[in-house]
Amino acid sequence: MTDIKNMTEPEAAEQLAYLAKEIEKANIAYYQNDDPYLDDAQYDKLRHLNDAIEAKFPQLIRADSPSKRIGAKVKSDFKKIELKVPMLSLADIFEKTEVSDFIMSIKRFLNSGEDIVFTSEPKIDGLSFSALYENGIFVRGSTRGDGRIGEDITDNLKEIKGFPVFLDKDVPERFEVRGEVFMSKADFFALNKKNEEEGKKTFANPRNAAAGSLRQLDARITAKRNLSFLVYTWGDVSDIRWKSQIEFLEYVKELGFPVNQYNKVCHNEKELLASFDVLMENRASLDYDIDGIVYKVNDLELQKRLGFLTRTPRWAIAHKFPAEQAVTRLNNIRVQVGRTGALTPVADLEPVNVGGVIVSHATLHNEDEIKRKDVRIGDMVVIQRAGDVIPQIVEVLIDKRNGDTPEYQFPLFCPECGAHAIREEDEAVRRCTGGLSCPAQAVERLKHFVSREAFNIEGLGDKVIDEFYKEGIIKTPYDIFTLEERNKPTDLFSASPSLNLENRDGWGKKSVSKLFEAINKSKDITLQKFIYALGIRQVGSATAYLIAKHYHSFSNFMTAMVAQDLQLLISIDGIGGAMANDIVEFFKEQHNLDIIEKLLGVVRIEDFGDIADTSSPLFGKTVVFTGTLTTLTRSEAKSKALAMGAKVSGSVSLHTDLVVAGESAGSKLSKAQELGVKVISEDEFNAMVS
Ligand code: IVH
Repeated sequence: MTDIKNMTEPEAAEQLAYLAKEIEKANIAYYQNDDPYLDDAQYDKLRHLNDAIEAKFPQLIRADSPSKRIGAKVKSDFKKIELKVPMLSLADIFEKTEVSDFIMSIKRFLNSGEDIVFTSEPKIDGLSFSALYENGIFVRGSTRGDGRIGEDITDNLKEIKGFPVFLDKDVPERFEVRGEVFMSKADFFALNKKNEEEGKKTFANPRNAAAGSLRQLDARITAKRNLSFLVYTWGDVSDIRWKSQIEFLEYVKELGFPVNQYNKVCHNEKELLASFDVLMENRASLDYDIDGIVYKVNDLELQKRLGFLTRTPRWAIAHKFPAEQAVTRLNNIRVQVGRTGALTPVADLEPVNVGGVIVSHATLHNEDEIKRKDVRIGDMVVIQRAGDVIPQIVEVLIDKRNGDTPEYQFPLFCPECGAHAIREEDEAVRRCTGGLSCPAQAVERLKHFVSREAFNIEGLGDKVIDEFYKEGIIKTPYDIFTLEERNKPTDLFSASPSLNLENRDGWGKKSVSKLFEAINKSKDITLQKFIYALGIRQVGSATAYLIAKHYHSFSNFMTAMVAQDLQLLISIDGIGGAMANDIVEFFKEQHNLDIIEKLLGVVRIEDFGDIADTSSPLFGKTVVFTGTLTTLTRSEAKSKALAMGAKVSGSVSLHTDLVVAGESAGSKLSKAQELGVKVISEDEFNAMVS
């Protein structure tokens, strides 16, 4: 057995190089040649050894490390693909009565009294894909992405059993088919069983399993998973040779693409509803998950006339099944305490399978919600999971309750520190009044203090903070800045022994000196970040920026707050009365003032300079952010824009100058395009503010 504890850095580097080579060889044998020469246990041993050495020597992690590849969470550096014909989504309906509304609106739009013919197609719950064939040869595959830009999954699609890489029939020169990639329930359960036995990650549902298998930078992993696919629509096609949706489905079936066997033509509302009922009843016996039925106007001419709303066609709709529910026992109500002392109740449930996902916790929102639903510990409750949202408790089955179950009493004292928990008028949450003497609040505040938009101290992650707090090494933010001093070697006579951080499990000289370096670097901080780091309730990064901009220096701000001079504060656009109140309250607490005073002795706060240079490309512009940003958080992006003299708004209008669209941007992006507002990507934004 290799002794990692006593390993030196050069030895570790050598081992990692050896392991990278061996594991890659084993991978090729397994994935490419289907001819493994290591059994699973031997293979796992190599990987675990690699992981363990990397954990001890993170600075030695190789660019080609096996931990960055198979099994590890892959980073999204898929090539981007522009979709010539965007991949749209569908409007949802949930009620049967809405089917007739849908038909009526179509008839009204077409000004027609005649029955409209529809197709009814099961809505498979997987991942949509687009596959482009040029002269019958498969050239490019993409995910949906934000509908316009998808991720390149060409190699992955090729690995799906039965996926045609060339079409030996006469097809349009440019022929793009679209459909769904999914995993059958049987394959999903088998994969999870296997992963569980091997101690690997299991998937929550077939959809996640399909996504995790398809979106792999290493297509060899896709190859090892059993994925299925089917086709239901088209994208860019140079010569459309069908006149209706059903003709398209028949055409692609002829070409050898799988289509769903339950696709059906319906001639009126009654037939649509009948198809819905049949599928809903038989849903459980299907070997794949469906979450509803898609109705589409069959005739292409009519589809063309009906056209599109911003993101959805007028000629199609998704009729979703009701959310999945299950009954289980509420074992406990656990109350968590957040950074600002907010008490949040969480339901601990007897684990239960809700439509394929094991659920063991549900949200209870707040005290009033518990009261309103009269939820009591020990009750049988109905759990609902709709889409990907956190499971909810829909109702309590009162008649299943024991006669002697007491009403639930929301704690009036903090479960972590025992301080009074009070609820202010007009507030839904009850809060612990313990402030920093409450361990839960203190720990959360410390995590906030070192976070990226605050002091940004790498090396003090959540786990380290938890440990250091528990052991009394860091109790307040100030203690972070005395760590180095306290870690110095001491002689026998000194009052307190050295912390000896380098002797901690998983630490070493190098990581300790890196940590001190990060801490020392963080001592130079901008006014905005410093204000944000204090963790004042409601004061996020953007508000901190506004304060910095208006008060210019920390002493200006602090003096005004201590004197309770609110005039300037409430005149700031974006700071309301309630927020101002929270800010003043913060400065009334002596323990906060004590810590600030100590911090001021060690950090150097940069005054807020004169507002951004007027020649900056964002100066005076109104900017809207939408979609998911991948390199910045929303508030970082906002504050960067503000720092360059931009105004940041939440909605797109004619006054908007610029929209920064992240991944999966939705209605704001469409609105911007409609209004002709300039849209830039996150990368372009980064370039502008750098
Ligand atoms: S048609 C413009 N047909 O549902 C119409 N979609 O929100 C484009 N889906 O992203 C979609 N089965 O992933 C269509 N038979 C079907 C479908 C289907 C599943 C998914 C697809 C799409 C989402 C629509």
